[in-house]
Amino acid sequence: MEKYIFFGNNDPNAKMRKTKIKLNCFNIRNHSIYKKKNNPMAKIDDPITIKSITFRNRIGMSPMCQYSAIDGFVNNWHYMHYGTRAIGGVGLIIVEASAVSPEGRITPSDVGIWKDEHISELKKLVENIHSNGSIAGIQIAHAGRKASHAAPWNGSKQLISSESDWETIAPSPIPFDPSEKSPNEMTYSDIKAIVNQFRDGAKRALEAGFKVLEIHAAHGYLIHEFLSPLSNIRTDKYGGNFENRVRILLEVVNAVKEVWPSNLPLFVRLSATDWVENGWDLNESVKLSSLLKQKGVDVVDCSSGGNIISAQIPVEKGYQIHFAEAIRETGIMTAAVGMITSAEQISNILENEKADMVLLGRELLRNPYFVLKAIKNQNWPIQYLRAK
Ligand SMILES: Cc1cc2nc3c(=O)[nH]c(=O)nc-3n(C[C@H](O)[C@H](O)[C@H](O)COP(=O)(O)O)c2cc1C
Repeated sequence: MEKYIFFGNNDPNAKMRKTKIKLNCFNIRNHSIYKKKNNPMAKIDDPITIKSITFRNRIGMSPMCQYSAIDGFVNNWHYMHYGTRAIGGVGLIIVEASAVSPEGRITPSDVGIWKDEHISELKKLVENIHSNGSIAGIQIAHAGRKASHAAPWNGSKQLISSESDWETIAPSPIPFDPSEKSPNEMTYSDIKAIVNQFRDGAKRALEAGFKVLEIHAAHGYLIHEFLSPLSNIRTDKYGGNFENRVRILLEVVNAVKEVWPSNLPLFVRLSATDWVENGWDLNESVKLSSLLKQKGVDVVDCSSGGNIISAQIPVEKGYQIHFAEAIRETGIMTAAVGMITSAEQISNILENEKADMVLLGRELLRNPYFVLKAIKNQNWPIQYLRAK
């Protein structure tokens, strides 16, 4: 069997050959001679440049919904929450899933990017992040059949009419939880509208000053629902074979690229697998990532699960890192995420070229200043120097 592999990653900082060669069978990245000669040994404190943007290190904050917005507007909670992590030294902050339409919200309190009025508050958030040395990114999202739910601290249940619920949409009328009301099957005009909403969301993100855009195609939300044959049983050109199921994501990428500048990084978050037999899987994620690379996507942010309620997920330390490693073999850059909590783990991922960046979620909720400790030579904010 032959496969193509890129020597090196796409990181312009890496002083490596970028020759595309034809290989037989085995994975050359794991070959000791290759490692000795070519391993760029990206370290925990190495900056990384993607297109025109240089991140001060390779540790980013993973997008995490705060369910604290009103009518989609960010507020003091968000300024404090993200500002603290920027002071804490991360290279990148990906602001939480921000809905491209009101119906695309998971909860009524999600951040929104569906109207121009949202831009000015988002702009303040971006300035806050940038003035503290981090690069501001944002994840744009549509929750599909997982929309219209309560916040976690209110039980995460599907809303009912007395709680101002709304109709949800999905590729097929299959609810995430069999006890829930079914979503409406999307028409072609619904699909077109959603694609346009992602494009308009990207345009607003740019106007707000974000430097990184992430398209949310993971965790069982709308785009992931199209990818998986378990949630997409359509018989038209958006369902069935792989090419049809990935169509909406590629359309979203095309639409976003109409407005998102070619010199700014574009990320896509995928669930690399549904963790269920006959569901979306790593092979399809790898195949899709090759297409995303051809389309000009820079980084695949490699998460997993969230689409099938009965999935048994083996959650443990670093349990998703191998997805980032496998997808990286296509030549696209990857971000590893999930149960990564120590500097040692991060160094291991970077030095062994399992991913180009590492995103932290809950560890940064526990410890916003993680990076100040994890990276020895990190510049501390001058105001904090006496505590170093
Ligand atoms: C409170 C909370 C909110 C989250 N919201 C989002 C989100 O908006 N978008 C997303 O893609 N993932 C979201 N996630 C998943 C995280 O980004 C991350 O992938 C996950 O928590 C695993 O990383 P960790 O083990 O470092 O926390 C959320 C996780 C948490 C804990």
